[in-house]
Amino acid sequence: MTKEHGDGGQAPKEAAPPKEGAGEPEAAVEGPQSLLIERRDDGILVVTINRPDRRNALDRHTLAAGRKLIRDILYDRSARVLIVTGAGDKAFCAGADLKEREGMTMDQVRQYIRYIRDTFTEIENLPIPVIAAINGFALGGGLELALACDIRIAAPNATLALNETSLGIIPGGGGTVRLPRLVGKGVAKELILTARWVDAQEAMRIGLVNAIAPEGRLLETAIDMATKMVANGPIAVTQAKYVINRGTELPLEQALQTESDAYEVCIPTKDRLEALAAFKEKRKPQFKGE
Ligand code: COA
Repeated sequence: MTKEHGDGGQAPKEAAPPKEGAGEPEAAVEGPQSLLIERRDDGILVVTINRPDRRNALDRHTLAAGRKLIRDILYDRSARVLIVTGAGDKAFCAGADLKEREGMTMDQVRQYIRYIRDTFTEIENLPIPVIAAINGFALGGGLELALACDIRIAAPNATLALNETSLGIIPGGGGTVRLPRLVGKGVAKELILTARWVDAQEAMRIGLVNAIAPEGRLLETAIDMATKMVANGPIAVTQAKYVINRGTELPLEQALQTESDAYEVCIPTKDRLEALAAFKEKRKPQFKGE
């Protein structure tokens, strides 16, 4: 298991095609360690937003570090599941850094919004599952980050809101788009238009989170779920995530074709044959992602 800081790693050998949002603050990648990255031997990566004194709010520097990490993961075949959480026990992420925002020009605000939205979309599109371990407040962009993840697990003290309208703005990191897709239009409208905060129990009831972890066992609960995913065929997991993401946005016929295409990717794999052999031999399959 290795630990590192998200701001100082090597650039990927093969650079991802830059799909830059305007004004990407690459220079800001050098700086304080606002992301902590733990690479476990089992392929689970735990990334901690490390700004507890600002309730893990996202400034441009932290977003740039996150963007770089996402690109590193794209080329890291050992990475199997990403868990995102926040440092301390108060906040997962309090959204955009409002102190940084105060000093921005209108154009800089526009650039920031584009940048945060594109970053969350890159998270959503990662080929591996991403689990948000929500250890406290997830407000504004903090909840939008969690919405871009595949799974949300809440600590019992989690408090969630898309509270932007109370600040005279709207969710700009995909919240108005992803929340209704998750909880339905009516509930999403109520939550966004009232800017109401919900606790973990209500979040569970409306389907905003997948589970509430027992007190003090949030990361353990997230790792338990991640471990179940790691045990499965890596290609199958990637394809299943892809079809669910794409399929829910497509008309039925095209969605079913997407499923068919993704199944086709799995058919020639060694992993599929390994699973059949393991079934016959009454043992657990050893998947290699091939
Ligand atoms: N941006 C920048 N700084 C933030 C922040 C944010 N989004 N959220 C919290 N902080 C800072 C506070 O200003 C405070 O700094 P200070 O000690 O220099 O005054 C510090 O983090 C601790 O915050 P505090 O409010 O004292 O902690 P709390 O535990 O009582 O409350 C929150 C935490 C998250 C509920 C509260 O800080 C809050 O409502 N933050 C704004 C969240 C928000 O509206 N986000 C949506 C943005 S679109």
